Amino acid sequence: MKTCKSLRIAAVALALVAGVGSGYAKKSNPADDAKFLDNLMSKMTLDEKIGQLNLLPGNDVVSGELPGARLEPLIKEGKLGAFLNVQGIDNISRLQHLAVEQSRLGIPLLAGADVIHGYQTVFPIPLALSCSWDSDAVERMARISAKEATADGINWNYSPMVDICRDPRWGRIAEGSGEDPYLGCILAAAYVRGYQGDNLKADSTVMACVKHYALYGAAEGGRDYNTVDMSRERMFNYYMPPYRAAVDAGVESLMTSFNLVNGQHATAAHWLIEDILRRDWGFKGMIVTDYGSISELTPMGVAEESEAAANTLKAGTDMDMCTSRFLKDLKGALERGLITEEMIDKACRRVLEAKQKLGLFENPYLYGSPERVAKDDYTPANRAAARDIAAETFVLLRNEGSLLPLAKKGKIALIGPLADAGNQMCGTWAPNCRPDTHQSLLSALREEVGDRAEVIYAQGSNIYYDEKMQENATRWNPIYHRGDNETLRTEALAAAEKADVIVAAVGETMSMSGESASRADITIPDAQRDLLKDLAATGKPVVLVLFTGRPLVLDWESKNIPAILNVWFGGSEAGKAICDVIFGDKVPSAKLTTTFPQMIGQIPLYYNHLPPSHPDTDPEHFNIYRSNYIDVSNDPLYPFGYGLSYTTFAYGKPSLSSNELTMDGKITLSVDVTNTGNYDGTEIVQFYLRDPVARIARPVKELKGFRRLDLKKGETATVTFDITPDMLKYYDADLKYVCDPGAFEAMVGPNSAAVQTLPFTLR
Ligand code: BGC
Repeated sequence: MKTCKSLRIAAVALALVAGVGSGYAKKSNPADDAKFLDNLMSKMTLDEKIGQLNLLPGNDVVSGELPGARLEPLIKEGKLGAFLNVQGIDNISRLQHLAVEQSRLGIPLLAGADVIHGYQTVFPIPLALSCSWDSDAVERMARISAKEATADGINWNYSPMVDICRDPRWGRIAEGSGEDPYLGCILAAAYVRGYQGDNLKADSTVMACVKHYALYGAAEGGRDYNTVDMSRERMFNYYMPPYRAAVDAGVESLMTSFNLVNGQHATAAHWLIEDILRRDWGFKGMIVTDYGSISELTPMGVAEESEAAANTLKAGTDMDMCTSRFLKDLKGALERGLITEEMIDKACRRVLEAKQKLGLFENPYLYGSPERVAKDDYTPANRAAARDIAAETFVLLRNEGSLLPLAKKGKIALIGPLADAGNQMCGTWAPNCRPDTHQSLLSALREEVGDRAEVIYAQGSNIYYDEKMQENATRWNPIYHRGDNETLRTEALAAAEKADVIVAAVGETMSMSGESASRADITIPDAQRDLLKDLAATGKPVVLVLFTGRPLVLDWESKNIPAILNVWFGGSEAGKAICDVIFGDKVPSAKLTTTFPQMIGQIPLYYNHLPPSHPDTDPEHFNIYRSNYIDVSNDPLYPFGYGLSYTTFAYGKPSLSSNELTMDGKITLSVDVTNTGNYDGTEIVQFYLRDPVARIARPVKELKGFRRLDLKKGETATVTFDITPDMLKYYDADLKYVCDPGAFEAMVGPNSAAVQTLPFTLR
């Protein structure tokens, strides 16, 4: 039976190849690839071409149905080019077989998924990953994710998400790399390299999809899906670079965003897609809408319902995610003269090219193998990598009196609603993870200390006092029973009473960040904040292990809790990784990639801001007629680039090889950094530039380089950063990419607010 089936598959595959072009045997020759597609397209009906532009979800099941069952008739008719959100190798492979064996032309399908920080092995959320400032770690995580996802049959991944965000209220800040374009570019390229590898036709690499183009992270008020309105100068200097970096790194597909950009919908904005992305940046890959976007053009006021699909195609978008509007409307739009057949052909060809690049025409069953699932998914090696990488992402925000690391002895009270919540560890977008197998912090801690210390546990509080608020906060993954507020408090205090040291595991649940999880109040939820206050009032030393998908306002905590370790959502191995750091087996090195405000009202607050009129020169006091607030200084609570270690680092006096830079020259900044503390450690040395006077105002500083520097105790190393005129360029008011001769400043330091500055001149 098995033999018959595989023979049949081979025969179908052969027929497919034979039927569509004899030149296909020489598949490595691009000219032959083109001929293959010419042949294939010459056989396609208009309906089949439009069918290739249609992407639908397979998780839309009614009870008793197989996942993706509703897609089956469309697949057979050649009316589906791709599906998303079908889980499991059997389901994915069933649909692929249907397309290859039972549709007229046997064109294989793209199998899409959101694998944004791991598949079964889950790594920290992308915002956390960015705090490692470690592009090798990001590439490694993407490589492992690709290997695991392709084992299940996934060949198209909706990642990386590279939206710059300056507003921590936005829940999706968790999915990106923070507020800085320079770091954002480096990490965007690392994700793409990791997913796509050197050979997209390998069975373990996956087509990446950079998203969400464009500017989705600048939603007004940090409210998801809200309007974006932005000057072109801001757009090109700060928000666009990471998308472009992904394009330059060879990303093969791109997703448009849900938002308006200056009154146009990003999904149907010709200037964004055809002019900037394809013409100016030379993007050759395939473009897909975000989920349901075409249907939103009318309610958002930019297209008549009957023209939404046509406008989207006309703008250069190739594939419709989840509205079926291309399928329903494009033929009519062609008849009405709204679009041309050439537009449909172009889009269809780009979809087929993507399939060709993935090797699907050579072997439609390349991706997905039960043997690989068994061999490659959730392996000890992958999990060990996740644990190592997680420890690199935890940011030590405070450590008074070197409270951390803790000794594995005495009585440790672990208190808080996130202490025994293994299923919360992964954070947003981890649909393929195995939450039931994730160790909670409590279980990891107990295992880690064995009988050397006593661990006393109490849940301590609810997430929120209010039941409805807690329901909103746990909608993806409800965690535990709701206790009576007073009883929980009593239990917490009893546990604290017995302990030598308290570890408080509090913060956001995983459903409180990510898509559709914006918050107007970004403090620690009320019940947990009160718990912290009660614990601090015991006078016992308290370590706050903070779970969060975004920067939080920690004004009270930063003054009253002696040690704060921000662990974000660390992924499937977070429990052990947190123990590695709190007991000092690993020394924290991460630094923030987003600014933490003192107060919500300071938002947007970001380090690379423009100089205001009436600058505030005395942050300690309120002064009238200054650009400031009456009730809070302009300073952040924790600036961009900030993070402590268990050891300390001292920076020497930096120097420049010359204080004159010529237009074709290079100068070098050098600085000595010494590990002056008691642990070996890693310092992230940061290098910033400023152009004090230019054709348009330039930021007070911009990150232009960094090094992750491993230093043994007592060791000194010299770190150098080359400065070239290219690094001084920016987009002016005419969007010309220029640099101007004149005075500049170079800065180096451990974070954006603690730099030493050296002037130089560009001649
Ligand atoms: C999100 C995308 C995601 C898509 C498919 C949308 O709601 O905005 O980021 O890739 O769904 O799951």
